[in-house]
Amino acid sequence: MALTVSVIGIGYLGSVHAACMADLGHTVIAVDVDAEKIAALAGGHSPIYEPGLDELLARVLPTGRLTFTTELADAAAADVHFICVGTPQREGEPAADVSAVFAVGEGLAPYLRGDALVVGKSTVPVGTAAALRARMQQRALEGVSVRLAWNPEFLQEGHAITDTVSPNRFVYGVDPRTRDADVALLDEVYAVPLSAGMPRIVTDYATAELVKVAANAFLATKISFINAMSEVCEAAGGDVVALADAIGADERIGRAFLGAGVGFGGGCLPKDIRAFMARAGELGADQALTFLREVDAINFRRRSRMVDLAREELGGSLRDRRVTVLGAAFKPDSDDVRDSPALDVAQACRSAGAKVVVHDPKAVGTARAAHPLLECTEDLEAALRGAEIVLLLTAWRQYRDMDPGWAVTLVETPTVVDGRNALDVGSWRAAGWRYRALGRPTI
Ligand code: UDX
Repeated sequence: MALTVSVIGIGYLGSVHAACMADLGHTVIAVDVDAEKIAALAGGHSPIYEPGLDELLARVLPTGRLTFTTELADAAAADVHFICVGTPQREGEPAADVSAVFAVGEGLAPYLRGDALVVGKSTVPVGTAAALRARMQQRALEGVSVRLAWNPEFLQEGHAITDTVSPNRFVYGVDPRTRDADVALLDEVYAVPLSAGMPRIVTDYATAELVKVAANAFLATKISFINAMSEVCEAAGGDVVALADAIGADERIGRAFLGAGVGFGGGCLPKDIRAFMARAGELGADQALTFLREVDAINFRRRSRMVDLAREELGGSLRDRRVTVLGAAFKPDSDDVRDSPALDVAQACRSAGAKVVVHDPKAVGTARAAHPLLECTEDLEAALRGAEIVLLLTAWRQYRDMDPGWAVTLVETPTVVDGRNALDVGSWRAAGWRYRALGRPTI
């Protein structure tokens, strides 16, 4: 049965979630405090680059099932309220800032109907759901017993729509007092994907909150594991790509997320592992997660190694040398530059005196906003022209498909450092390039 749902917080998660809920047939009221963002989305323009999102908006907006507002009061009619606000890292601290989650919950509480269900989707430190429910209860109307569930999302930027409508599992963290009714209502929300056989796990608040951060901690660990192997390969003359293929063939290990290179960035993995460590410390379980400090450190070392490799290739100094950085986004198919390894390396080269030009097919706008002093362009030819070294730092298809025979005619010196192990070594070397990569032997 189609429901009326509100989606509060229209960032990466919320904008995709709202559009997907409308596409599943629900009536959606999307709420955000940012009037500019709301106006853009209502006009069919997504404020982020996410493949398929503009097309999805064009499909659902004419149905009238997706409306936007800046007023929480407009969400009062909803059967289900999704909280999708951000939980960024606190300024100067490893812990997550959950103030937006509490502000939204407390703001919504007086408008709640007795039969409505609030569903948290934001990534939060364990314990937040229980605290939020108590705080909302204090502000709810008399006679209303607040119903809250935690339903983490696992969306990967660049695949956000598929990950929302067909994730590989649904996780419901529910209150034992209202368990059956809450599960039944969530099952109605996700009736379409559930009918396709999608598994769902029903558990308590704490486990549901932990599932999300544990999944991200595991993924970050997997990436740092292969990057640690990359360091050993560099010392021993081994090839980390062949090593990843070989260990990844064992299905207990799996090849996914064994992509060695400049490591992980983005709005989730780095801040989630730090917030997880901080929360474990508060709970007295800090020893259990000290290994994540090492995971974070390995990740950062890869960025410095990239700068060192560039310096080494340029004869010992980056001063006044023309460096082309391919990629600004933290990963391909996204314009997100939050904690982007590519921009970090570009900035470090610039600080060391290099003349850096950054190219990205989609993230030039966000890169300029984050680093106004970095020269950024969407023109690949212009970016390559005159380069004394090319650093590939985001594995966009455009770079993987680039003809090395064309690129070699533009640069001053044909040296490429492949920071994502994304290029075909043979064809780049055959076109006259000196090819270096992280964790691979130099020829
Ligand atoms: C991540 C989780 O994958 C997702 O489930 C969660 O909901 C949010 O956080 P996302 O941040 O979109 O998603 O990116 P992801 O695809 O996980 O990549 C994270 C970073 O790791 C990127 O910088 C990527 O380039 C890097 N990465 C990924 C590697 O360095 N090697 C790999 O093998 C895979």
